[in-house]
Amino acid sequence: MSTTKQMSLFLMTLFFSLQYSSVFSFEYEIGGKEGWVVPPANDTRIYNDWASENRFQVGDTVRFKYRKDSVMEVSVEDYKKCNSSHPNFFSNTGNTVYHLNHTGPYYFISGVSGHCEKGQRMIIKVISTDQETNSGGKKSAASPSAVLSFGFCKVLLLQLVMSYVASGVFYYESASLSV
Ligand SMILES: *[C@@H]1O[C@H](CO)[C@@H](O)[C@H](O)[C@H]1NC(C)=O
Ligand SMILES: *[C@@H]1O[C@H](CO)[C@@H](O)[C@H](O)[C@H]1NC(C)=O
Ligand SMILES: *[C@@H]1O[C@H](CO)[C@@H](O)[C@H](O)[C@H]1NC(C)=O
Repeated sequence: MSTTKQMSLFLMTLFFSLQYSSVFSFEYEIGGKEGWVVPPANDTRIYNDWASENRFQVGDTVRFKYRKDSVMEVSVEDYKKCNSSHPNFFSNTGNTVYHLNHTGPYYFISGVSGHCEKGQRMIIKVISTDQETNSGGKKSAASPSAVLSFGFCKVLLLQLVMSYVASGVFYYESASLSV
């Protein structure tokens, strides 16, 4: 295999890998239709129940939509105490997109007095891709159809990459044989 051919195979693989990863960053909208609101009194765990069903990964984003409310990302201690006095992150624009840039837990609370205590808070655990592959994790979101098409996309793309790489290798092998 010549250097140029090796190079182009490498670039092709890289190109598809990059596409592959960008397809996988996923935006989660918090709270469905109502958005980021104080949960009903009989369902105060609604956000954490939802979050624990999802497999958040680095590069994913969460979108909070709300009116007359706010979003804070805080420490675990402040999360437990609903202490909104020194958040790591604060937004009250009504439409907040938060990037999950590292693995580990994120603690979100409402910054409005009393809301966090009523259950408007959420822990999001971001796992590494390796962990997800090993656990064979499922990915669920507000809309089941989005999940289905997402899963389909993943399989299809993987096959596409594999077949491209395979055909490339085959082509180069037969080319060198014929020389
Ligand atoms: C909470 O109460 C509402 C209205 O009474 C009811 O429709 C809903 O099913 C209840 N949710 C849970 C989780 O009990
Ligand atoms: C919140 O945290 C700050 C700083 O740690 C502390 O001074 C304050 O008393 C806390 N407030 C509550 C309500 O726990
Ligand atoms: C996460 O990364 C994005 C893109 O690089 C950047 O715009 C954003 O500010 C980062 N967010 C945090 C909370 O560091």
